[in-house]
Amino acid sequence: MTASRKKLFVKTFGCQMNVYDSGRMIDALAGEGFESTDSIDEADLVILNTCHIREKAAEKVYSEIGRIRAVKEARAQSGKDTMIGVAGCVAQAEGEEIVRRAPVVDMVVGPQSYHRLPELLAQARDRAVVETEFPVEDKFDHLPAATGTRLRMGGPTAFLTIQEGCDKFCTFCVVPYTRGAEVSRPVGAILEEARHLAGAGVREITLLGQNVNAYHGADRDGGLRTVGLAGLIEALSRIDGIERIRYTTSHPRDMDDDLIAAHRDIPQLMPYLHLPVQSGSDRILAAMNRKHRRDEYIALIERIRAVRPDIAMSGDFIVGFPGETDADFADTMDLVRRVAYAQAYSFKYSPRPGTPAAAMDDQVPEPVMKERLAALQALIDQGQKAFNAAMVGRTIPVLFEKPGRKPGQLVGRSPYLQPVNVDAPESLRGQIVEVRVTSAGPNSLFAERVGGGTQSEGTDSGRTDSGRAAMEAVS
Ligand code: SAH
Ligand code: SF4
Ligand code: F3S
Repeated sequence: MTASRKKLFVKTFGCQMNVYDSGRMIDALAGEGFESTDSIDEADLVILNTCHIREKAAEKVYSEIGRIRAVKEARAQSGKDTMIGVAGCVAQAEGEEIVRRAPVVDMVVGPQSYHRLPELLAQARDRAVVETEFPVEDKFDHLPAATGTRLRMGGPTAFLTIQEGCDKFCTFCVVPYTRGAEVSRPVGAILEEARHLAGAGVREITLLGQNVNAYHGADRDGGLRTVGLAGLIEALSRIDGIERIRYTTSHPRDMDDDLIAAHRDIPQLMPYLHLPVQSGSDRILAAMNRKHRRDEYIALIERIRAVRPDIAMSGDFIVGFPGETDADFADTMDLVRRVAYAQAYSFKYSPRPGTPAAAMDDQVPEPVMKERLAALQALIDQGQKAFNAAMVGRTIPVLFEKPGRKPGQLVGRSPYLQPVNVDAPESLRGQIVEVRVTSAGPNSLFAERVGGGTQSEGTDSGRTDSGRAAMEAVS
């Protein structure tokens, strides 16, 4: 039976939500007899799950299709068919244009239609299909749950999408167009998925949404009331086996009092917060339509740090937004110094078709953007190094995820999301173990187990052991 299964190769670009979606597409096609493979050469169906956020990301799709065409031709020589699908945000944004530009593509499917993959695939056997409507039904109501096999391969951490789309319309951003309006999944469906994950051995869940803290899902009373992110996290923290909860990406305007309090009151909620600000200049923030000022952002972080002093802050920045002057950029550098981020991402502004900023005057020349990006990245790196160095000598819990850099090592994550390499036996994979940090690199930590420990050491070994048993039990 297994030998005759068709093979599916999915390549994922972009954000964590695409990683999550790729998993759901694999689940949706498992029912059609597809099994996922890491080798494109044996794939009967190749799906590119694409990202449209910056020009470079979008252009990758076409170079990738070129490569797959070569694989398809080579397979055809030995009588094998290969179908090519383009999913994700480029599919949504470009639709028909993809098939025009790359006729080798059989199927284009936007993120809201993944539950229709089986029927679209059947249609695509006759002619190319393009599906970029926003359907009235909710794809999550129709997508099958993940199988135990796929969950086990994912290890002890998992993503769980709770909210999709965005109503904020920052002037630089394509997300409101590619992912549509903000929609929150109901609490009951999320809890059910989380229990399923916990039963398969998952210890840490990262809740995903383009505006995850704008979450307001229908409660289990039939949707009479809605629950915010803090309430959802509280409910998730009661699930046996879920020992760590994270969420991303948040918008500063949706950081309410309950969510701030959750960082004080819910031990499973990890002390790490990705809270993008994009710019430190009030003028640029206004032009970006971010709808808050820099001092409000700084005050917000002070309030969060007041309840959770050790919280590690992360952010996103865009340099060279249209009209950004040296003084505006200096404001961004100043904000980065004041916030002291544990880490952050920074990007050169990329004009995106159809967004208001792309039509603005005063586009910043490439060499200026390049220079600003280098300066900002150097400052962020410096902050990250200092944050990592400050961990040396501390004892912290690490959730071991996979083999580490060297044989005999495992790598896991600290509460602050730093990768930590430790000499540890394979049997500790999936467990949370106390380790002492011995040294720090720019991007990761090195640590040793405390007390020479046995396999049963760790903060919650009883619970993780039962999780492990459950993990074996899932097919
Ligand atoms: N919802 C999140 C961001 C999602 S997009 C938020 O509001 O913060 C991820 C990041 O990509 C953004 O935070 C931004 O820094 C970057 N980005 C988005 N559009 C961009 C563009 N046109 N050019 C450069 N970077 C961009
Ligand atoms: Fe894009 Fe702004 Fe929405 Fe974030 S909040 S996804 S940056 S439009
Ligand atoms: Fe990219 Fe779409 Fe995510 S544009 S960043 S894959 S929401």
